[in-house]
This record gives sequence, C-alpha cells and structure tokens, in this order.
Amino acid sequence: MQAFDAVVVGAGAAGLFCAGQAGQRGLRILLIDHAARLGEKIRISGGGRCNFTNREAGPANFLSENPAFCRSALARYTPADFIKLVQGHGIAFHEKHKGQLFCDGSSEQIIQMLLNECEAGGVTRWQPCTVADVHPLPEGGFDLDTSHGPVRTPRLVVATGGLPVPKIGASDWGLRLAKRLDHAIVEPRPALVPLTFDADAWAPFAALAGLSLPVEVSVGSGKARGRFLEDLLFTHRGLSGPAILQISSYRTASDQPLQINLAPELQLDKELIEAKAASRRQLGNEFGARLPQRLAAAWLERAKLDASRPLPECRDADLQRLGRSVHDWQLMPSGDEGWRKAEVMRGGVSTRDLSSQTLESRRVPGLYFIGEVVDVTGWLGGYNFQWAWASAAACAQAM
Ligand code: FDA
Repeated sequence: MQAFDAVVVGAGAAGLFCAGQAGQRGLRILLIDHAARLGEKIRISGGGRCNFTNREAGPANFLSENPAFCRSALARYTPADFIKLVQGHGIAFHEKHKGQLFCDGSSEQIIQMLLNECEAGGVTRWQPCTVADVHPLPEGGFDLDTSHGPVRTPRLVVATGGLPVPKIGASDWGLRLAKRLDHAIVEPRPALVPLTFDADAWAPFAALAGLSLPVEVSVGSGKARGRFLEDLLFTHRGLSGPAILQISSYRTASDQPLQINLAPELQLDKELIEAKAASRRQLGNEFGARLPQRLAAAWLERAKLDASRPLPECRDADLQRLGRSVHDWQLMPSGDEGWRKAEVMRGGVSTRDLSSQTLESRRVPGLYFIGEVVDVTGWLGGYNFQWAWASAAACAQAM
C-alpha cells in the first residue's frame, strides 16, 4: 500500500493546479487521471488558444444555488495572481474582448506551465489510471483501489470536472462519489450550449444559417434575469454564438422564452416612420439598409409586407409592427445541443455541503471538491478557468 499526503483525482485545470500548489507547500501529492492525455479541455479551450482567465472576473459572473459561495476563493486567488504566474513562465498573451485573456501561441503552453508547477512540487502522476473504489476509514482518511494498486491518504481531492464532451474523458465519477457519501447534488445540466428549435418552427429561419450579428438577449425576470449584449449566430438547427451560449446558462425551465433585440443600437419602429417623411425609397431598401440583407428579407416576409412598396405608401402601424418585431423577438427553444456541445455543466456538488474557505466537505473531513464538479458555473470568457484556479488554490492552501 503506497501512502501520500493527498490524492487528487482528475488532472484537468483544477486538479493540475491544486496538485502543483500543494506539492510546492511540501505535501507528497499523487495526481491521478483516467485519460491517456491530460488537460484535454485546456487543450481545446478558446479555439486552441485557451482563454485562461478574465481580468474582470468576480462573483457576479458566476451562477450557483448559493451565489455568494465563490466569493471567498475568488477574492483570495485573483485573475492578477494567475496573470503573474503566466508571465513568470514567459507565456505571451493578449486581451481579445471584455477582459478575456488568450495565449498568443497555444493552449499547450498553459498545460506545460501547469506540468512544470507540478514538477516543482514533486507531484507523482499516474495516468491512465482508474480509481475503482474509495473507502473512507473510521479513523479518518481514505483507502483507494486504483488500477496502479492500493493507496492510503488522509486527504482526497475530487477534481473530475463536469459532464460536457464525454468523448475526451468527462465522467460522473465525482458526482457519484459525492452522492454515495451523502452530499446533495444540484441537478447537472448543459450550460454555455447552443439552443435548438422544432424543425417546423425553425423552417422560416433555417436559411439564415451562418449569419452573425450583435444582439441583446435576455431571459427570466427579477434577480434570476440574465441579459447579455453579444453576437448571435443563426445555425441550421437553431441559435448559437456568445449571446446564446451565455443566456443558455440562465434558462431554468424548458418553457422559458427568450427575448432578443436584433438591433439594440437602433429604434426601428420610430426610425422607419421618420424616414417615411423624407424618403421615397422602397420599404425593402430602407429596412435593408439598417439590417443585414438576409435578416431584413426574412423579417419582411414574416411581417407579410411588400418589400417593393414605396415607404410613403406604407401604413404607420405596419412600420411600427415591423420595427418592434426586430426589437422584441420572442422565441421558445425546444432544447439544446446537449453534453456533446456544452462548454460547461450547470449544477454539481451542492455548495451547502462544502466550506467556501477551503472547499472541504462538511460531511466527510479530508474530502475536497474543486473546479467544475462543484455547483459554481461561470460565464463564457475565461471565468470557468478562473474558478478552477481559485478553488484549487483555496484547497491547496488549506491542506
Ligand atoms: P476538467 O474537465 O478540466 O478536468 C477534469 C479531469 O478529470 C479530466 O482530465 C478528466 O479526464 C478527469 N477525470 C474525469 N473523470 C475521471 C475519473 N473517473 N477518474 C480519473 N480522472 C477523471 N473555460 C474557460 O474559462 N475558458 C475557455 O476558453 C474555455 N473553453 C472551453 C472550450 C470547450 C470546448 C469546453 C468543453 C470547455 C471550455 N471551457 C473554457 C470550460 C473549462 O474547460 C472547464 O470549466 C475547466 O476545464 C474545468 O476544470 P476542471 O479541472 O474542473 O475539469
């Protein structure tokens, strides 16, 4: 039986970082992953350039049953801390959009940096290695049955991530273990995911596939309301793009409609009526000058208005109705693209059973949950990695 001060299961973003940090504090760490290649989600993230943090990351950018839970870890390990680490490893990066930081080179640089940090901490890595069972011991600590043999440890860190993209190693191992050891689970569901529509309902819009434009999208009401100003992308089956990925995380019921303003910078209902006084152009030309052509044509057809009619001959009520239909497009998705296409998991191990200071279980001393397996889900844009780093650091400092 081999013994370690802590065993970390899952060598993704949170597990690699936690193992390196704890190792550098002098603990003997074993890091286990069942996949042959580690850090696969880091590798494919940010289009291969890893959007490794967001300069603006704060508690308001995260969803959870307990929105205050992430506050402590995020405050103690900030984006500036991770940026300093990245700079210390000589990795060049740039800001793309709204505080999002990407490697100039490739995501591999972040994986290599995390491996170097593990090396500096003398971390032992077993990979591919499976953990068949975990036995909590009456005197505290755990025995693990692994495919590399039995292991004993006083501390077990679960960093097995969320359920998205099963083909690159995602599993529900951490959720099953948490449940078996009496932890509440907030129902996991795909988040940051493209939304789909019934084929018949989507038929009028299918021809817009490939069209991308900046929109304002919102869902829900009161405190649960989500609202984003981002790009939307029409697809053959529905809607995608940053605006839709963001809002998908905020949909809590399948019968919740989306509200989309397709031209947030304009006031088309007023502008078309004003233009009527000054222009003899055809409605289609006037309307089409303000929106992408394909979108304008589709919206005129939906409104059953004749694009060739001169503007002065159009009724004010029709122009107003047309303009409003652009600013207040209400639609009901029938589903989403599921775990195959989701970027993160909403839900996970309930925060009510964890310490927000240390990420240690309140039910089983010595057991920790970090990263995406916990019910803390970030917005699109580097926030999920920041949660992985921050929760990992909180755990590594506490062990
Ligand atoms: P992560 O998934 O990174 O790691 C979990 C590890 O556990 C994996 O190595 C897995 O093999 C291992 N594992 C699972 N089950 C196991 C078992 N039973 N036994 C042993 N090992 C097991 N976020 C962001 O901030 N910026 C970005 O640019 C992107 N981009 C992005 C693109 C795509 C396509 C996806 C799918 C996701 C993103 N994300 C992202 C989200 C981000 O990748 C994610 O939130 C973090 O990787 C979560 O880190 P974790 O360490 O918790 O899980």
